Amino acid sequence: MTNILCIGAGYVGGPTMAVIAKHCPQHRIVVVDIDEQKIAAWKSDHLPIYEPGLKEVVSSVRDKNLFFSTEINRNIAEADIIFVSVNTPTKDFGRGAGRAADLQYWEKTARQILENSNSSKIVVEKSTLPVRTAEAMERILNSNGDNLFFDVVSNPEFLAEGTAIQDMETPDRVLIGGRETPSGQQAVQAIVEIYAQWIPRERIITTNLWSSELSKLVANAFLAQRISSINAIANLCEITEANITEVAHAVGTDSRIGPNFLQASVGFGGSCFKKDILNLVYLCEYFGLPEVAAYWEQVITMNEFQMSNFVSKMVHAMFNTVAGKRITLFGAAFKANTSDTRESAALTVCRALLDEHAQVIITDPYALDNARADLYDVADEIIFEPDPYLAARDSHAIAVLTEWPQYAQLDYDSIYRDMVHPSFIFDGRNILDHNKLYGIGFNVYPIGKPPQTHFTG
Ligand code: UDX
Ligand code: UDX
Repeated sequence: MTNILCIGAGYVGGPTMAVIAKHCPQHRIVVVDIDEQKIAAWKSDHLPIYEPGLKEVVSSVRDKNLFFSTEINRNIAEADIIFVSVNTPTKDFGRGAGRAADLQYWEKTARQILENSNSSKIVVEKSTLPVRTAEAMERILNSNGDNLFFDVVSNPEFLAEGTAIQDMETPDRVLIGGRETPSGQQAVQAIVEIYAQWIPRERIITTNLWSSELSKLVANAFLAQRISSINAIANLCEITEANITEVAHAVGTDSRIGPNFLQASVGFGGSCFKKDILNLVYLCEYFGLPEVAAYWEQVITMNEFQMSNFVSKMVHAMFNTVAGKRITLFGAAFKANTSDTRESAALTVCRALLDEHAQVIITDPYALDNARADLYDVADEIIFEPDPYLAARDSHAIAVLTEWPQYAQLDYDSIYRDMVHPSFIFDGRNILDHNKLYGIGFNVYPIGKPPQTHFTG
């Protein structure tokens, strides 16, 4: 039996360890966090995050070989392998503010591991970190005088929220990076053995430490770049009468390009893309490559334009003023099938509409609590309504900001009857049947397609 510990019971640590526990009944797995409420929630029927399939996996292994605890020090002492999955937000102070990763939690965790260890251990970087962080961690961990040795291994997560369990069960690949020393290679093999319990060996890629750390940032930068690229072209489509869905299909059928991640939208969100690209930009600047930094920064600039331009189009369409108008936002989560609202385009659009003095109503099936918390400073100006029909009642406009499939299934005849006319729909996700909505009477504004309006002249 191996004692595996995960420090950080968040969106990554919780689902990852639940799936490892399911496939490795021979190992004992403990997940710890400084947040007592979060640990209490992991132990209850109301898990702290919504993720399809997560509840089932957790309840099948909890208190068998998966345990949640706030006793960090004792569990460090007992562990053979420690995954660190604490958050690494963008630094908001000092050098690199707004770009570099804030590594204070990581460093604090490394020191805590050192202080509480009386045996050698493998420490696995699960959090996304700047390249060469492992070096600093090795130095801290191996600064002990006790003949203990810590191997640092990089094992970045590639799971996407909403499909985290599926991504863990059948990943495209698992990446494990380590030192090219005998002990480093042994540590890598120990982590390979865990994943090999359910993942074919050819999908487990091993590299050196720095390639592994960098690959995570690059994978997210490439993914986000595809979205910014298709969104850039969507703007051109709206003016030229080209149709972004047709363009994306035509372009994506080239096998060199591929069809995935070409869905034009109001803009990408989530805790990773912006943070990781800013981190990459900072690294490029730090290493004296300003042109490379500027190249990647443009992916973020384009995304910010996409969100603000969406609001500009709304205001323009609604006769250049939304002041005092009720506008209902369909969706608060940054994507479907998650309760997560971090960096959600919906929140950016909400704030911009409040700046225009609109009256904003937000509906979402799972993310309203997080939306309320994120918008705490303006929450008393917003109505949070879980029922989309009630939310849309008496509104001038609906803006679809999260691609929840249920929003495509609503009875828009009935919604239209209860709205103020002329009624507007801004489909920031292109999930609705635009011709049908137009037929009902809506003025319809998709992404990357010319609007369909009942106005003449
Ligand atoms: C985190 C990182 O943000 C991301 O870069 C990485 O790829 C995976 O881990 P996530 O799991 O989504 O992502 O973060 P979050 O849900 O905020 O969870 C982090 C947890 O660590 C929190 O529950 C926090 O309480 C905990 N934590 C933080 C500790 O237990 N100790 C600390 O010192 C700091
Ligand atoms: C991402 C990476 O996909 C994952 O591999 C990494 O481990 C963490 O970061 P995540 O942010 O959870 O995962 O979700 P993702 O599916 O990548 O979506 C990110 C954002 O892009 C969402 O706002 C989504 O709606 C948007 N998106 C995605 C688009 O606008 N268009 C697309 O074609 C795809």
